[in-house]
Amino acid sequence: MHLVPVSLFATLAALHVAFAMPYCGLVPPQPQPRSVAQSTGGNTTNGGNSSSPDQVLATGWYPGWLGATYAPSNISWSKYNALTFAFAVTTNDPSVISLDAQSVTLLPEFVTEAGNNGVSALLSIGGWTGSLYFSTAVGNAANRSAFVKAVTGLATKYNLDGIDFDWEYPNRQGLGCNAISPSDSANFLAFLQQLKQDPVGSKLILSAAVGETPFMGANGTPMTDVSAFADVLDHIAIMNYDVWGSFSPTVGPNSPLDDSCAPTKAGSAVAAVKAWTGAKFPANQVKERCISLEPAYQTFLFFFCKIALGVAAYGHSFHVTTSAALGSSGNVNLYPSFDKSQQPLGDSDTSTSASVLDPCGQPEGISGVFNFNGMIAHGFLNSNGTAANGIDYAFDNCSQTPFVYNPTAQTMLSYDDARSFAAKGNYISSNGLLGFAVWPVTGDYNDILLGAISDAMGIVQICS
Ligand SMILES: *[C@@H]1O[C@H](CO)[C@@H](O)[C@H](O)[C@H]1NC(C)=O
Ligand SMILES: *[C@@H]1O[C@H](CO)[C@@H](O)[C@H](O)[C@H]1NC(C)=O
Ligand SMILES: *[C@@H]1O[C@H](CO)[C@@H](O)[C@H](O)[C@H]1NC(C)=O
Ligand SMILES: *[C@@H]1O[C@H](CO)[C@@H](O)[C@H](O)[C@H]1NC(C)=O
Ligand SMILES: *[C@@H]1O[C@H](CO)[C@@H](O)[C@H](O)[C@H]1NC(C)=O
Ligand SMILES: *[C@@H]1O[C@H](CO)[C@@H](O)[C@H](O)[C@H]1NC(C)=O
Repeated sequence: MHLVPVSLFATLAALHVAFAMPYCGLVPPQPQPRSVAQSTGGNTTNGGNSSSPDQVLATGWYPGWLGATYAPSNISWSKYNALTFAFAVTTNDPSVISLDAQSVTLLPEFVTEAGNNGVSALLSIGGWTGSLYFSTAVGNAANRSAFVKAVTGLATKYNLDGIDFDWEYPNRQGLGCNAISPSDSANFLAFLQQLKQDPVGSKLILSAAVGETPFMGANGTPMTDVSAFADVLDHIAIMNYDVWGSFSPTVGPNSPLDDSCAPTKAGSAVAAVKAWTGAKFPANQVKERCISLEPAYQTFLFFFCKIALGVAAYGHSFHVTTSAALGSSGNVNLYPSFDKSQQPLGDSDTSTSASVLDPCGQPEGISGVFNFNGMIAHGFLNSNGTAANGIDYAFDNCSQTPFVYNPTAQTMLSYDDARSFAAKGNYISSNGLLGFAVWPVTGDYNDILLGAISDAMGIVQICS
């Protein structure tokens, strides 16, 4: 265990995480002065009360449906301070939030393991296929009251430290058959405010998994002021992935750090953080957990202490001909065209995937998604995470992400590796973001990715 100055250790008392004995926490080795890299769209003086990096968030989502092959005991608990079990789903009855049979068995084990490791245990509600009824659940006062009761009931029953709302998306269609309404974002806020007033809800960590742009307003464009959400949410995690995939016109980076230098701007961490902070998240509010107790650090300016960056332990695959994939010098082209009709099977797709129906009754299709460890299992990468023999590799210095190409199978993948996770960790640190959130926690291999981002952020574990 690393030793830290007593003054820094004192700041840990303000952490909004579940404590186990002995208490352990994750912190940067020492508070670092950080410069503000983006416009915050607001007053950065905080009225003389500045924020400082007195904590980090090291979190991710654990997909409950993988429990049979990746037990909660297999999670690298010591490298996280919060973890979220995914998913409970909305139903057409606002008083009912549904957990499948496997999750009902697994969630208590997950919560117990988290508690034993001093890690906060959250449950995520929603997800891509579980957001059908958010709109109606928060649609009017009576429904919101019922939904608040359902959420607090789940939290109490499973002894949860928090709830993550993964509504994909308020007033924006996701899966295809979600209820949506122009009032979604306003109703979501009213619901969160009511949850925060509830005696059980007020003690929960509340987070939201969000898209690259702020919540949609009633007029169908992103809201320009989401500061009220920052009053009720402990943090948001920006899902900066699936930016390019089999649904895109060409190959492109799954999870770009930047796109200001890209030929086509489809979204990136840099653009998303700018969009959310531009819409005043977390606004210019001084939050308890953002304030350093150490006077020496109170000279620093504004920190985006409620925004975590969602990072991807997976990639998207594409069928690309060799002539399109490789340039004349044998280099890997970054945005080649691909053949949708020959979509490669991802590591958890089966040949019958295409005919499996989603909750809207539509064929799910082939995802083409490979977890990082699946790319190792399928021979794209060595077990140390480098490109395998016979696999072409390129690192895009705009998106700061790698691409690999298997000329025999004519398969290209855009994904994340140790280098791109380190780049994201550096970005998080130098811009004062709260931390990272990995999707999915089960995608890594020997903590290659988790170690890279944690090391880049200088995260150390301390124990009392
Ligand atoms: C920033 O906040 C300070 C202190 O509250 C105030 O005096 C100043 O006018 C503000 N500046 C802007 C640009 O809002
Ligand atoms: C700074 O924040 C602390 C803790 O919330 C508060 O006690 C103090 O009055 C604030 N100082 C200023 C100058 O706002
Ligand atoms: C633990 O996870 C690894 C993948 O990281 C997997 O190969 C192994 O089977 C898992 N073991 C258990 C007991 O879940
Ligand atoms: C309230 O919930 C019911 C389902 O119990 C739903 O039928 C109704 O549309 C909801 N109301 C609103 C305004 O969303
Ligand atoms: C990764 O593994 C490959 C294959 O075993 C090896 O050739 C390469 O040197 C290793 N790279 C690093 C950085 O360890
Ligand atoms: C990558 O970096 C090099 C050197 O800084 C630069 O010349 C090149 O234009 C960059 N490429 C992209 C795609 O940004």
